Amino acid sequence: MQRVKFSVGLVLLCVLPMWIGSSNGCFAEDGGQLKLHLEQKLITAAAGCAQIPCGFTDLPTTFMAREIWFKGSPASPLSPEEVEKKNGLSRPLSTLKECSIILWDLIGLDRTEEYGFMLKLATNETHIFPETVQVSYSAVKMNISLSSDIIVATKMTLLTCSLSDLCLASDPKITWKGLRSKQYFPLRYRLKEDNVLKYYENLHYSPVSEDHQTEITCEVTFGKNLTASATVTLTVHSEPQILNSSACTRQQDLLTCVCVSQGVPLPDIHWPLLKGKRDFTTVRASDGHMTVNSTFMITAEDFGRIGTVICIGTNELGQANMTLPVIFEGNPDQSNELPVTFEGNPDPDTK
Ligand SMILES: *[C@@H]1O[C@H](CO)[C@@H](O)[C@H](O)[C@H]1NC(C)=O
Ligand SMILES: *[C@@H]1O[C@H](CO)[C@@H](O)[C@H](O)[C@H]1NC(C)=O
Ligand SMILES: *[C@@H]1O[C@H](CO)[C@@H](O)[C@H](O)[C@H]1NC(C)=O
Ligand SMILES: *[C@@H]1O[C@H](CO)[C@@H](O)[C@H](O)[C@H]1NC(C)=O
Ligand SMILES: *[C@@H]1O[C@H](CO)[C@@H](O)[C@H](O)[C@H]1NC(C)=O
Ligand SMILES: *[C@@H]1O[C@H](CO)[C@@H](O)[C@H](O)[C@H]1NC(C)=O
Repeated sequence: MQRVKFSVGLVLLCVLPMWIGSSNGCFAEDGGQLKLHLEQKLITAAAGCAQIPCGFTDLPTTFMAREIWFKGSPASPLSPEEVEKKNGLSRPLSTLKECSIILWDLIGLDRTEEYGFMLKLATNETHIFPETVQVSYSAVKMNISLSSDIIVATKMTLLTCSLSDLCLASDPKITWKGLRSKQYFPLRYRLKEDNVLKYYENLHYSPVSEDHQTEITCEVTFGKNLTASATVTLTVHSEPQILNSSACTRQQDLLTCVCVSQGVPLPDIHWPLLKGKRDFTTVRASDGHMTVNSTFMITAEDFGRIGTVICIGTNELGQANMTLPVIFEGNPDQSNELPVTFEGNPDPDTK
């Protein structure tokens, strides 16, 4: 009985100030004002969510139908997906009922939004509190870095992915993309820097030469359903290799020798056994990244005198060499007899 009377009294007092923007609000039975207590008027959201501590004058449950948060105007109530009721965010205030919430998945352009709170009373009337809270939020900030700008193939390097820490110290899930070779178990930790808590994930990685100019991405999923990523392009130095596509091709009386070498920085190619040879010119071609070709032509007669052709690739990390095989183009029958001339006989003139 007492409750019903209370209810009627309050409702009557509520009607006037309700939609006219008055800050007086409703009055409870004892004559006290219906109050909303927002501990902070301006809240900076962590990546993925914002927490709004809130309390309001407790009312008998028979009185109240619903607590509703809205964005901007009461005409835009927040959906249950956007807002989660969360007790314990507000300092306990004995006369107040907690209306704290978490707003999820705030992301996008840097901006500030205004949020307000209203009560739907059992009488179908609405009480809108005049107090509002501003929430500013910005895109999650992420970095990916390497222990040094230039890394060396097969040498262990440290990849670091960092992000401004996420809402509620949630455990972000980080995925590394683009890594080719074996990865070692990642190390995760948090550090406070310039008053911002940051989350770090370190990965030991041993790059392969093919990783040169590969994009490595660190992708994080957080909040309810958000992702962000950071990307770095690797510069991987590697020793020269002579590729197996290197060969001398014989067409009638002429051989075309191609040495294909790979390495970063780009290798220089030398043909040591051709030193002093008069009509010897090479053509150098490169894909600009890590492969370089050196080509020259030699008569079958000259080739016969040298016996074998070696090419050497050199860069600051080392060198590689290869004795080039001879391919007989268009006349496979010769394959069986001619190699004897070049490889088996140290003095071709004795043939
Ligand atoms: C409130 O509105 C609902 C539906 O619009 C109605 O069924 C109910 O009777 C109303 N209650 C009061 C107290 O007016
Ligand atoms: C990312 O790098 C920038 C510039 O180096 C720095 O100002 C920022 O704090 C870094 N952010 C994170 C999350 O590490
Ligand atoms: C997560 O977000 C993506 C893209 O933003 C959307 O397509 C997908 O439906 C969302 N999933 C859930 C479970 O909300
Ligand atoms: C060339 O081929 C040989 C034998 O098949 C192989 O052992 C070697 O690793 C290859 N070299 C390169 C650079 O691919
Ligand atoms: C180098 O030679 C290889 C094999 O002959 C060829 O596939 C490649 O296109 C050449 N690269 C350049 C830059 O000429
Ligand atoms: C070719 O490489 C081998 C092994 O790396 C080395 O022992 C040899 O001296 C090199 N030959 C030339 C001509 O550089």
